[in-house]
Amino acid sequence: MRMTNLLSSGTLLLLGATGASAHGPPSPGSSGLSSFGGANLLASTGTPLGQEFAHQNITFYLSTPKPGNGPLGAGPRHDTHKGDAILYLTDVFGIALPQNRLLVDSFARAGYLTLAPDLFQGEPASADINTPGGPVFDPVAFLAAHGTLQTDPVVETAINYLRNTLNVTRIGVAGYCFGGKYAFRFVAPGRGGDVAFTAHPSLVEESEILAIDKPLAIAAADHDELLNATVRVRFEELLGQTGERYQINVYGGTTHGFAVRGDQNVPSQKYGKEEAFVQAVRWFDTLL
Ligand SMILES: *[C@@H]1O[C@H](CO)[C@@H](O)[C@H](O)[C@H]1NC(C)=O
Ligand SMILES: *[C@@H]1O[C@H](CO)[C@@H](O)[C@H](O)[C@H]1NC(C)=O
Ligand SMILES: *[C@@H]1O[C@H](CO)[C@@H](O)[C@H](O)[C@H]1NC(C)=O
Repeated sequence: MRMTNLLSSGTLLLLGATGASAHGPPSPGSSGLSSFGGANLLASTGTPLGQEFAHQNITFYLSTPKPGNGPLGAGPRHDTHKGDAILYLTDVFGIALPQNRLLVDSFARAGYLTLAPDLFQGEPASADINTPGGPVFDPVAFLAAHGTLQTDPVVETAINYLRNTLNVTRIGVAGYCFGGKYAFRFVAPGRGGDVAFTAHPSLVEESEILAIDKPLAIAAADHDELLNATVRVRFEELLGQTGERYQINVYGGTTHGFAVRGDQNVPSQKYGKEEAFVQAVRWFDTLL
């Protein structure tokens, strides 16, 4: 009996999400899930709808929530988060990757002005940092060229733009893979972020975890060389020591990168990407 209930509610959620995101641009209000930023707001395919422009030599990708049910329409949520913004920090594939742009758009549909800076000055990686290097991509050299010395100033410029030009007062930092490290770094004291969410963060140092003084949530893959079970448990210990509110969700049947590049033809990865998005939106809705 109990099993049946669990199964049927799980199926309902999955069907709701599948039905809404598989066909055309998602629209809010088409299912009850949208009331808390449901998976129906998430797009993994289609044409990105935000604007790209340069500010102080950094390329930005920005999506602004619109009233109504249009492609960036946040429906009744469109006014809910005035003064708030999400700073979206990408994986090594940067703002050129359609899935990154589409996620920025998806956060706009959830009601958040969302800005993604180009962390790599127009030269993102051609492969993931935890896939074996090929002739065209040397992860060691890439990471050496994109350390905190190079990346922190880009993130700072984006935060200043949000606060000083767009008059944003509260910033949620959403960091994926490479960008996840900076989700931690920018909720340390005085760094400008107010709440952080990160999916499969990479290269995070213990001191960066201990330095946070704002809430932080993690969406983790169960198969991630950069964030294996041992490391995840260590993260939990360290987050507990910070005294900040935190959350760690592990999605079975996923691998590193799933919250951005998960194969949407694989049910566990599709489910993981949708749930990681819903996790992020609920976290920001609750704490930002
Ligand atoms: C922008 O880049 C150009 C060319 O690389 C450089 O001359 C200029 O000083 C840069 N401006 C800023 C604000 O960084
Ligand atoms: C931000 O605030 C300034 C000063 O009040 C105002 O001039 C400007 O139009 C505002 N910008 C936006 C995007 O709201
Ligand atoms: C998990 O990752 C850590 C850090 O990379 C490594 O030291 C450890 O051996 C890994 N553990 C397992 C079980 O793979």
